[in-house]
Amino acid sequence: MSKLSIRAVSKVFAGATTAVDNVSLEVADGELVCLLGPSGSGKSTLLRMVGGFEQPTSGTIAIDDQDVTRLPPEKRPTGMVFQSHALWSHMNVFNNLAFGLKLRGRPKDEIRDRVEAVLELVGLKGYGGRMTNALSGGQQQRVALARSLILEPKILLLDEPFASLDQHLRERLREEVRDIQLRLKITTLFVTHGQDEALSMADRVVVMRNGATEQADRPEVIYRDPQTPFVAGFIGTMNFIEGRVEKGRFLHADVAVDLPVDDGPITLAVRPEALDLQPSGTGRATIHRVTDFGTHGLVDLHLSDGVRVKSLVRSPEPFRSGQTVDLNPRAFAAFRDNIKLYRTADAH
Ligand SMILES: Nc1ncnc2c1ncn2[C@@H]1O[C@H](COP(=O)(O)OP(=O)(O)O)[C@@H](O)[C@H]1O
Ligand SMILES: [Mg+2]
Repeated sequence: MSKLSIRAVSKVFAGATTAVDNVSLEVADGELVCLLGPSGSGKSTLLRMVGGFEQPTSGTIAIDDQDVTRLPPEKRPTGMVFQSHALWSHMNVFNNLAFGLKLRGRPKDEIRDRVEAVLELVGLKGYGGRMTNALSGGQQQRVALARSLILEPKILLLDEPFASLDQHLRERLREEVRDIQLRLKITTLFVTHGQDEALSMADRVVVMRNGATEQADRPEVIYRDPQTPFVAGFIGTMNFIEGRVEKGRFLHADVAVDLPVDDGPITLAVRPEALDLQPSGTGRATIHRVTDFGTHGLVDLHLSDGVRVKSLVRSPEPFRSGQTVDLNPRAFAAFRDNIKLYRTADAH
């Protein structure tokens, strides 16, 4: 039973970069939380503070209610896997894994059994005698993961562990890591800038921007009900249409729809799958390109104010480039001044 509590943690580097800005986050026992955000948003700095590799400027970090904020990495019940594996290339796999246990003075038999068990867990049974530089990139990352797990940390920390691997391998490894994490029920904080990775692995996703938490929610909520325009635009494809509300109606040269909010400027956010099209002689939105993906079509459009939007259609048949259309947003959210004012009852 291990939970992680990050309370009002900030990190200001010399030169006054605020890398992490007052972040609070609870990771429950056995939960896998992904920190997702663009490069430079403070994900690694936050993770490194949990691991003890950076000191917070302010705030506290607790594991199972024990304050670990001032403890060095080796005194913390955490295990960290980095993007570049940093295995010892002059040792074989067995010795890479046994190293931490030897340091702790564990008996030989126990070390052998635990190395075997962890190799099996990460799918590398029988690889103990291999030199690490004779392993593929994916196998090396498995060893790096095993090296953390063998010490039975309460909290597992992963910083873009698959970033250097190709797409196919990345997808496989993230499934494997998720399986292992679920089997061990190990509380995990996982850093990624890949939305697919976050949405497919996480119990909860924390979207970070400029060192701060933008939204923390279950993956499907992050996708269906983004709370800010940044989250809306960062996860999946989103169309943003700028207009005004007057007397309960959103108005734009090409789009009009009922919207029960106060008068004023509004950004309408519509997913491509929720933007319906109708061929029209009077519409001014113009189709730029139609792509047929077999299972569906994707229509690229230019609105009359020059904004480009996308619509996902069941069949691309009725549409062709140069045609004018009417746009009907079936489901949408509405933002003003960075705040969500409205969302249609059901997005799908
Ligand atoms: N050791 C450091 N010294 C100074 N600035 C740093 C240091 N580490 C990170 N930063 C800065 O902190 C910000 C967040 O970086 P980082 O946590 O690595 O972001 P991410 O992992 O989301 O890409 C960036 O502006 C980065 O340049
Ligand atoms: Mg990083």
